[in-house]
Amino acid sequence: MGKRIGIGLLGLGTVGAGVANIIQTPLGRNPLVEGIELVRVAVRDLNRSRAASIPSSLLTQNPLEVVDDPSVEVVVEVMGGIEPARSLIMRAIAAGKSVVTANKAVIARHGVEIAAAARASGVYVLIEAAVGGGIPIIEPLKQSLGGNRILKVSGIINGTTNYILSRIAKEGVAYSEVIKEAQELGYAESDPAADVEGFDAADKIAILSGLAFGGPIKRESIPTEGITNLNSLDVDYANKLGYEIKLLAVAERLAQGTDNSTSLPLAVWVRPTLVPKEHPLAGVNGVNNAILVEGDPIGNVMFYGPGAGAGPTASAVVADILNLAGIRVIKNSTNCLDPLLAGSSWRNCHVVDPSEIIQKHYLRLKTKDNPGVIGRIGSVFGNHDVSIQSIVQFAANEDEAEIVVITHEVKQSQITASLNAINTQEEIKGLTAQMVCI
Ligand SMILES: NC(=O)c1ccc[n+]([C@@H]2O[C@H](COP(=O)([O-])OP(=O)(O)OC[C@H]3O[C@@H](n4cnc5c(N)ncnc54)[C@H](OP(=O)(O)O)[C@@H]3O)[C@@H](O)[C@H]2O)c1
Repeated sequence: MGKRIGIGLLGLGTVGAGVANIIQTPLGRNPLVEGIELVRVAVRDLNRSRAASIPSSLLTQNPLEVVDDPSVEVVVEVMGGIEPARSLIMRAIAAGKSVVTANKAVIARHGVEIAAAARASGVYVLIEAAVGGGIPIIEPLKQSLGGNRILKVSGIINGTTNYILSRIAKEGVAYSEVIKEAQELGYAESDPAADVEGFDAADKIAILSGLAFGGPIKRESIPTEGITNLNSLDVDYANKLGYEIKLLAVAERLAQGTDNSTSLPLAVWVRPTLVPKEHPLAGVNGVNNAILVEGDPIGNVMFYGPGAGAGPTASAVVADILNLAGIRVIKNSTNCLDPLLAGSSWRNCHVVDPSEIIQKHYLRLKTKDNPGVIGRIGSVFGNHDVSIQSIVQFAANEDEAEIVVITHEVKQSQITASLNAINTQEEIKGLTAQMVCI
């Protein structure tokens, strides 16, 4: 491996500490992670306790010391807020450094200026963590779905409001009560306005829209309504009519035109929306996020997962850093492939003997309908250390019964041994079905 890629972190809070933790534990991850080195970290308060252990020599309260440090090749902005984050990103770009940022507020408002500066400097600004936390959605829109005309992007892209709405729908609790609990659990900020007023979702749909349809939109032109005026009575009525209420962020093309020279009309909005219970977005609950992309010719694809939190968001930040590391590999050697795109192997793997796999099992046995048969079957499993989650008897016909057993997690070899023993019993007529459970 050549020289390591020097990372300067702006911020060591929730996301920053998550990023540091990944970089500091490269074992078992893509080998490119080993080539990443944290060289400088800016924080506001040097004395705060951190969720990552960073040598104090790396810490500074002056973010310029990070951006301007010659050993910093990539600036990772995870400090949040508009300023000084925007200026620091611009300064890094001007110095010829690529930037990775999780800052949707800055990108939604200043993305055009930032992208233009990045183009002029020949550097990348990568933003996978800015939308959907750990869910890969930026790269799929830029690359994997590139062959499609995107028709519509609809998402549940704010975990805090989705948590609140899920609680209201499930338990009928009042908004004011849930928001208090969400704050106590750390899901909602002490000032939750950006989430509950829909501003955060609007930032994110502005970014997704720009990528999906190929042209930026003005962040301030997005009609935005949050959940603060939502009455739990409507959640209840909607539920009775077969709907869930979700805070949806939607961007949809209103013309099928393929003429790239004219401006594409889009409907873009954020508002509480009735979603039919059978719609894929209706089942997205709690702090999870999901983004449904409709494209021509692919149809519907849904991206689902944890929309925030240290680990998930750091996973997306590190993915962007790895992309930059891959590009550097190509630049620094002749005739070399991008290691990520080439998808090369980097370790040995093998498939274990199936008898060693530990799973739950479903077994259906046909037996004589004798008294105590369930107990006898249960003890055979017990003799082979197979613990049973449930065992139920169903009548098959007059003198036969079917006994269905669901086990806890055990090795296939224990199941085989148990079945061999059960089969020797005279009252057992045979195993009629066997499956595994998850
Ligand atoms: N948290 C998530 O789940 C999540 C998910 C997706 C995207 N994001 C985005 O990621 C970014 C970071 O979020 P976060 O939750 O990690 O925030 P956070 O926990 O508040 O951390 C912010 C960090 O930046 C430092 N900082 C802030 N202003 C600074 C300044 N002027 N100079 C030096 N250091 C400064 C803080 O220092 P101190 O620690 O000393 O105060 C802190 O370490 C935001 O843009 C957010 O929108 C977050």
